[in-house]
Amino acid sequence: MLLPLIWPSLHAFLASFLVSVECATITGTTLQTIDGIGASGAWWVNDIANFPASVRQNLSDLLLSPSKLGLSNYRYNLGGGGVGVTTPDRAPETPYVSDGVYNFSKDAAGTFFLQEAARHGVAQLTLFVNSAPSTMTSNGQSCGGTLITSRIPAYAQYIADVVSHWDAQGVKITHVSTMNEPDNTFGGCGQEGMEVTPSQRAQLILTTAKALNAAGLSTMVIGDETSQVSLFESEAPTWLNTTVGVSLAGVAHHQYAFASGQAQRTMAQLALNLSGGTPSWSTEICCFVAADSGQAGSPLAAMTYGGTYDPTIVGGLRMAVLIFQSLGDAQEPHWDFWTAVSNAIGSCDPSSGTSCLSKTNADGWNDGLIYYDPNFATTGFTSLFLSKRYHVLKHFTKSALVGSVVRRTSLATTGTEANWRVLAFNTPGARTLHAIVAMNGGTTASTLTITGSGFTLPVPKSVVRTSASEDYVTITTPTLGNGSLAINAPALSIYTIFF
Ligand SMILES: *[C@@H]1O[C@H](CO)[C@@H](O)[C@H](O)[C@H]1NC(C)=O
Ligand SMILES: *[C@@H]1O[C@H](CO)[C@@H](O)[C@H](O)[C@H]1NC(C)=O
Ligand SMILES: *[C@@H]1O[C@H](CO)[C@@H](O)[C@H](O)[C@H]1NC(C)=O
Ligand SMILES: *[C@@H]1O[C@H](CO)[C@@H](O)[C@H](O)[C@H]1NC(C)=O
Ligand SMILES: *[C@@H]1O[C@H](CO)[C@@H](O)[C@H](O)[C@H]1NC(C)=O
Repeated sequence: MLLPLIWPSLHAFLASFLVSVECATITGTTLQTIDGIGASGAWWVNDIANFPASVRQNLSDLLLSPSKLGLSNYRYNLGGGGVGVTTPDRAPETPYVSDGVYNFSKDAAGTFFLQEAARHGVAQLTLFVNSAPSTMTSNGQSCGGTLITSRIPAYAQYIADVVSHWDAQGVKITHVSTMNEPDNTFGGCGQEGMEVTPSQRAQLILTTAKALNAAGLSTMVIGDETSQVSLFESEAPTWLNTTVGVSLAGVAHHQYAFASGQAQRTMAQLALNLSGGTPSWSTEICCFVAADSGQAGSPLAAMTYGGTYDPTIVGGLRMAVLIFQSLGDAQEPHWDFWTAVSNAIGSCDPSSGTSCLSKTNADGWNDGLIYYDPNFATTGFTSLFLSKRYHVLKHFTKSALVGSVVRRTSLATTGTEANWRVLAFNTPGARTLHAIVAMNGGTTASTLTITGSGFTLPVPKSVVRTSASEDYVTITTPTLGNGSLAINAPALSIYTIFF
């Protein structure tokens, strides 16, 4: 009869001890300065051009308006003309007619959203290219070839001319990326693409930077957008040095082998070392599934590349894990998802019932924030569907503002707190805390106690939450108790606390 009396109190004692040591600590130590959170305008713009104008306008507002998602970077895809590309919506028009001759009425589908991004005041407008015009590639196509070395000056001039054109229209393109996944020729021709060999890349970056400068533009180059972290590590020593580094705003890379947060940190350090201090940017990722299908329900499970349409909170938080790895583990200043909008809804036919839009199916892809019906032309279904990724990304676009400095945080990696991820951001231009993003990636409810170290946590102004049942909704603001905030989180949820 004695033991049952002792054990509950011992258990309570241990539980209170665990809560007090397992908490997130926000320090006053400052790390990198955020310069953009974005997504790309390839290739949905071509389908959306055929939608009712009101839906297209709504889509523009949903992505770009500061009162909605408010992306701080929009990646406009400058088309190569789609020569040889077999997927019609992945064959964007190009303004290029011949060297120095342009028709800027081309690609109205894509330039609509470029202009909308400027109108909404999106801080960064990135122009990225999958393939140079076909007169500049080895096979005369927009896919399957290699950039011709002797055509690099003409290609750089074309880029500068396009940026100058938009500049004169009041559309200030802040960054250009002249090669997207240059490690791949895209010989399957399902999309545009061209190889740029590692030995061509420094020349392409330096020549483009010089052409932009000569045109009086402040536009900066990013590169090289290699597909995978490990490939970047093996190729970068060939093309990246301090001369190239000062010509780059960011050493851009993709993440398609889903390197761990720690492996990304090593890559980021290599980029800093080789470039003489230019930080790495994570500029494209999508299309993730749990590497172990038995862990499909856990956003914290290791990821791999593969098809699945998961619009649920799991698919949303899996994207958040990638952001925590980039901004947190690798201390990168910039993170972009792949396409803002996708039609890869797999076996879901929303025209015969919309409930499948919010359910996972194995035939689609996790490559969009917002989705639409690929068969809209025949079904007439032109509604937009916001996946959880849209709402989850909003936690970052509203906290990781351009100019926000990231603070060092610490979190136990054992116990239930191993299920949490935390990032803290200062107000741009100030030393005060702007927001904390905290995610419970665990499949059970959990409480996180957040404390300041070396400074006192200010009183929070508001808190928003996204979970299985909530989309970025304002919840009751927790009170500050003895300088700590307790977040009582349901399973699979993400919070932003604003100060
Ligand atoms: C420029 O492109 C537009 C849109 O495709 C087309 O209507 C027009 O004829 C082109 N202009 C010239 C001079 O080719
Ligand atoms: C970096 O590489 C470029 C292109 O090969 C070269 O022109 C430049 O001199 C190199 N800079 C340094 C510091 O090695
Ligand atoms: C980067 O340089 C630092 C300082 O020289 C060195 O300690 C570190 O090992 C280097 N890291 C990489 C990944 O090259
Ligand atoms: C925009 O689209 C969203 C998502 O489909 C919808 O909820 C909203 O009502 C639309 N707004 C307008 C103004 O059409
Ligand atoms: C604050 O700490 C004091 C002393 O440890 C304790 O008595 C009090 O209950 C705490 N208050 C809150 C709100 O946690």
